[in-house]
Amino acid sequence: MTDMQRGRFITLEGAEGVGKSTLLPVVRDLLQSQGIDVVSTREPGGTPLGEQLREVLLGTQEPMVAKAEMLLMFASRAQHIETVIEPALAMGKWVLCDRFTDASYAYQGAGRQLGARRVSVIEDWVQEGLQPDLTLLLDASRETSVARTRRRRAVDRIESEGDEFFARVKQGYLAQASADPERVRIIDANPALEDVTAAMAAVVSDRIEQWSIVLEGC
Ligand code: TMP
Repeated sequence: MTDMQRGRFITLEGAEGVGKSTLLPVVRDLLQSQGIDVVSTREPGGTPLGEQLREVLLGTQEPMVAKAEMLLMFASRAQHIETVIEPALAMGKWVLCDRFTDASYAYQGAGRQLGARRVSVIEDWVQEGLQPDLTLLLDASRETSVARTRRRRAVDRIESEGDEFFARVKQGYLAQASADPERVRIIDANPALEDVTAAMAAVVSDRIEQWSIVLEGC
């Protein structure tokens, strides 16, 4: 199989309460409406082992040190890449993932202040060059996020962090976007979700068109 026949890897990112869970099915439906075979998955999680690690990561009562948190995120990711993501891409399926390594840069690198360098060392080892083809970064003010999070269930271990932590998470995400603006597209998630949906659909449709033009040119 040539590289051109591989599926595309799309990730969705953003701090808590930006509307990610509402918007992910919108992207999935858009891709499926174009006849694309999509595997929709998430991190941490996406495999039986990953889902067990997710429960530990989000639910443990024991104070978790930042390095343990980062390594467990990458343990989940390693299992996910080898058993779900890579096989799907190799079969020509597209993978739509609710969070990936940009979240490790934002939450562990910036939020927990481990630094981008440590994340990048583990990323190189675990991912062996695998990167998303497109990342949709939903960016909202803290006020919008808090208002949307309040409407939901009880908050988990990471969601219950304070404003300073989430200010660093936001900066971590924006740093990822400025380091790779072609891959990471920032979507303003402050407007009403219908408007965010329309903006996001436009970005995805544009990118699908660009990719099909490249394919036709081959
Ligand atoms: P969510 O996917 O339901 O939003 O929850 C996952 C939580 O895990 C969220 O608080 C972000 C956090 N997370 C990290 O801290 N690092 C990571 O690498 C990933 C994938 C998620």
